Amino acid sequence: MSTRPLRVLALACSTRPGGLGPLVGQWLIGAVTPRAAELGVELVTVSLGDLNLPFLDEEEQPSSGVYRHEHTGRWSAIVDAADGFIAVTPEYNYGMPAALKNALDYLSREWAWKPIGFVSYGNTSAGTRSVQHAKQVVTTLRLVPLGATVAIRIGDALENGRLRSDSARDAAGVGLLDELVRIAHALRPMRERLRAGTLTGPLPGSYARRLTPDDAQEVTVLQRCCWVDEAVVNDTTAIPALHESLDEVREWLAAWQTTGIWLDGRLLGMVRARRLETDWHVGRLAVVPDLRNRGLGRWLLHTAEAAAGPECRRIVLFTGSKSRQNIGLYQSEGYRPVPLADPDGIVCLAKDTSGRQR
Ligand SMILES: Cc1cc2nc3c(=O)[nH]c(=O)nc-3n(C[C@H](O)[C@H](O)[C@H](O)COP(=O)(O)O)c2cc1C
Repeated sequence: MSTRPLRVLALACSTRPGGLGPLVGQWLIGAVTPRAAELGVELVTVSLGDLNLPFLDEEEQPSSGVYRHEHTGRWSAIVDAADGFIAVTPEYNYGMPAALKNALDYLSREWAWKPIGFVSYGNTSAGTRSVQHAKQVVTTLRLVPLGATVAIRIGDALENGRLRSDSARDAAGVGLLDELVRIAHALRPMRERLRAGTLTGPLPGSYARRLTPDDAQEVTVLQRCCWVDEAVVNDTTAIPALHESLDEVREWLAAWQTTGIWLDGRLLGMVRARRLETDWHVGRLAVVPDLRNRGLGRWLLHTAEAAAGPECRRIVLFTGSKSRQNIGLYQSEGYRPVPLADPDGIVCLAKDTSGRQR
């Protein structure tokens, strides 16, 4: 899965001029910034008041993702780019502030499968009723509320207009960030499934998407595991997929069009393809050992073939000369042997693309 750093938004939910929101927000950022750096988390503060969102004024339902207004598009992009949220929220009349409810209502898919933690503040209940109110709303949006929470009773925490320093509160803030980050990582596969450009995969719950250099770790592990079988049947370890470094894998992932099948954060299989003159070269077809003979390899092969452009006349593959299973699969898909000048333990198979439906 992607190794991109997580981006966590601290949502300042108070819009009241002169309110306590900025004070509480500043405390939070001060308390958790060192831990965010340790965890490689990008922490960004967004003040709901600065978004200038009117009361929901989109004609289409948020689930449609059709936005007419610039303010909605802007808000959508901000939330979409985030991996998790910490709402810094007061309690107004036993509930969350209207600005938070409105900001939540504007969007749908953008919130899904991201954790949300709460730093609440208020009088008698330290804002906890605001959090209870928000929790039942956010779950509808597939936001995942944390158990860890920070609740600040204003009367106890304020001293001369400032938040009294409190190491227990600081530790609770760090604990909240820790939990948020773990859940954000755990939910990454759920979020990825919703990303544009993903296809439904061949197994229930699986999906396929283009692999990028960010996926080099998983690809390297998959290669090492899958090509051991090839080494055994061909009686050689001189197979690039067994030796490539992480950087070499990153390099070819940038150059080839590679498709991976994922299930719950696990890379189940992959195939890469690219054009060389009028040939469409397909390779590195791999499926994890425990899920072979379930149609994943054939599905990947078809996906790679379908990506060949109209200028490609042949689809070309290489495999070990003793890799009977691979050769059988390719022959059953219409590939025929092509003589090689220097075979060196390798066979080449190709099929014409002229009969393909486009
Ligand atoms: C409209 C309004 C309603 C409030 N309702 C509650 C409440 O139900 N429970 C509570 O503990 N405090 C309540 N308070 C007190 C707030 O928690 C406190 O004023 C807090 O500082 C508000 O956050 P802010 O200063 O960032 O606006 C309310 C304050 C306002 C302005």
